[in-house]
Amino acid sequence: MPDTIISASILNSDLSDLRGTASKVDGSGAEWLHFDVMDGEFVDNITFGSSVLAAVKPHSRAFMDVHLMVMHPQKQVKLFADAGAQMITFHAESDCDPKEVIEMIHGCGCRAGIAVKPKTPVSGIVPYITDADMVLVMTVEPGYGGQGFIPETLDKIRDVRRMAPEKDIEVDGGMNRETSKLVREAGANVIVAGTFLFRAEDMGAAVSGLRA
Ligand code: DX5
Ligand code: ZN
Repeated sequence: MPDTIISASILNSDLSDLRGTASKVDGSGAEWLHFDVMDGEFVDNITFGSSVLAAVKPHSRAFMDVHLMVMHPQKQVKLFADAGAQMITFHAESDCDPKEVIEMIHGCGCRAGIAVKPKTPVSGIVPYITDADMVLVMTVEPGYGGQGFIPETLDKIRDVRRMAPEKDIEVDGGMNRETSKLVREAGANVIVAGTFLFRAEDMGAAVSGLRA
């Protein structure tokens, strides 16, 4: 199984100071910076587009991890790749042909992830797992930070790990010391955390806690 990676979600950070956030994350030991892109259609909320990533990129050493919670991911791929994205993950439930979107992401020189919401069975993404670099198993309903972890998702993580022993499996939502341990035991290796990291007094210690 690949090494554990911590991806810091900026969604619940101080959005008036993204440069400060980027530098805090760089100093914390978290390897990735997670951008939650919401379009007001796939989910109710609207967050930020590729121009925000482009603005943060020069101030960060982190690997840029983009999570598209949008209905039409194919419209966003090139914009985010040009802005400096390195991993682009889209939802299996969005209005797209997943195979085409994965090809588009790879064509832009990025790694491709496919995401499933908590209630979406893993069976639907089996045909795409080989082509994708990462599977994102959502551990909360997409849309907001600060929600509680849904334990029923653990079986899905185990199923994906069985099918893809070498791939990155990302989890997103409700991560803290305890839930991170559970999902890692189930097979996840990329831990997205927002609230837990940005509320912590010592972000470095919180990052270590997610790996412990
Ligand atoms: C939810 C987002 C998550 C969220 C995680 O739609 O995809 O990335 O920021 O936030 P916490 O860690 O607060 O649950
Ligand atoms: Zn996310």
